[in-house]
Amino acid sequence: MSTSHTDAADIAASLRAEMVRELREMGEVISEPVAAALATVPRHLFAPGEPLEAAYAADRALVVKRDASGTALSLLSAAHIQAVMLEQAEIEPGMRVLEIGSGGYNAALIQELVGAEGMVVSADIDPGIVERARTCLTAAGYDRVEVVPADAENGVPEHAPYDRIIVTAGAWDIPPAWMDQLSAAGRIVVPLRIRGRTRSIAFDRSDDVLVSRSYRLAAFVPMQGAGAFREHTVRLAEGVVLQVDEEPQRFDVEALRRALGSPRLERWSGAAFDLPDELELFLLTNMPQVAMLHAAEELVDQGRFALSAARGVPVLIRDGSFAYRTKRPNQETGGFESGVFAHGPDAETVAAEYVELLRRWASDHRRRGAARIQYVPKTARTSLPSRGLIRKRHGTVIVSWP
Ligand SMILES: C[S@@+](CC[C@H](N)C(=O)[O-])C[C@H]1O[C@@H](n2cnc3c(N)ncnc32)[C@H](O)[C@@H]1O
Repeated sequence: MSTSHTDAADIAASLRAEMVRELREMGEVISEPVAAALATVPRHLFAPGEPLEAAYAADRALVVKRDASGTALSLLSAAHIQAVMLEQAEIEPGMRVLEIGSGGYNAALIQELVGAEGMVVSADIDPGIVERARTCLTAAGYDRVEVVPADAENGVPEHAPYDRIIVTAGAWDIPPAWMDQLSAAGRIVVPLRIRGRTRSIAFDRSDDVLVSRSYRLAAFVPMQGAGAFREHTVRLAEGVVLQVDEEPQRFDVEALRRALGSPRLERWSGAAFDLPDELELFLLTNMPQVAMLHAAEELVDQGRFALSAARGVPVLIRDGSFAYRTKRPNQETGGFESGVFAHGPDAETVAAEYVELLRRWASDHRRRGAARIQYVPKTARTSLPSRGLIRKRHGTVIVSWP
């Protein structure tokens, strides 16, 4: 090995150790096996041509492929989300693991975790990515990983059953093949989109349904192939968009445009505002007709929309009126109070309905523990509750709260 190669390997090793230290500090790495895997696999060999510092930045994803419009189709995911998902998966030596969405690096980490007795299958819909992953894995010494071209919708039946299925592309649904190919005590870790937001959810199998054990917000490149979903956006005005990605919903767009121009009604809940991600999940799964409202930052800066709309906020729509959540400092108790901005002829009604949800969240559920997310395939013989249902193509997501 030449001196420069030795130097690069030494620098990579020290950057790798630093990355693991940072991931521990962030609380993303908590177990020794995941730390050891991250400390062992030479991540830079899966990012050829990138500076070593970029390859080992804990929170940086590197684009491998884009489509014609510039949208990223394949990434070397950021190490922090890979660590989160591996912790969620709790992979043990000897397990059989299917990874959906290849790149090589995550599969090599999984190979470290399953050891010599285990098996790793990594599937990608894009033959170019399959080839690239194989090349990188060989260069890094992980050629035992089986990289196959396949559409996630079908899984990879020839190597099933799997103890773990780890999905590394944003999914809208859980195809039947994943259930069919999952072992009786298996777990699926999947970035699942629920009403416009994606969470990495660890689901344990319980007979013919899946039950969550943990979840975290996460962003992923979209699933392609048979399981691809189409997001619907409704433009209300320059910089103002409604995003709808569940079953098609009909809005009176002209009436909503008129409502946008009408004066703003403010109503305050008297309830504390915190844990915004949890509250958002509650709202998204308890509103009868729901979309996400997005407003451009300059409109927020001009005071025309609450800050919540810059990131996207659940909006409650009734005919030509709508309401969405905001917050203000609570002078008496410290922290924040939740409230609502509403527009349109029925602004009072939609605001009252939204405020009621904010109060119900605060009095019945806030800080009582995480939601329980279940996935019930259409084929399961399980009766469904009346609330918190999100219909998918192959089954139903049920979100309930302690
Ligand atoms: C974030 S990248 C995968 C990252 C990779 N796991 C790593 O080690 O960094 C997501 C991948 O999912 C793939 N993908 C998207 N839709 C797919 C599908 N239906 N079936 C299989 N792979 C898919 C994309 O081609 C892309 O390479």
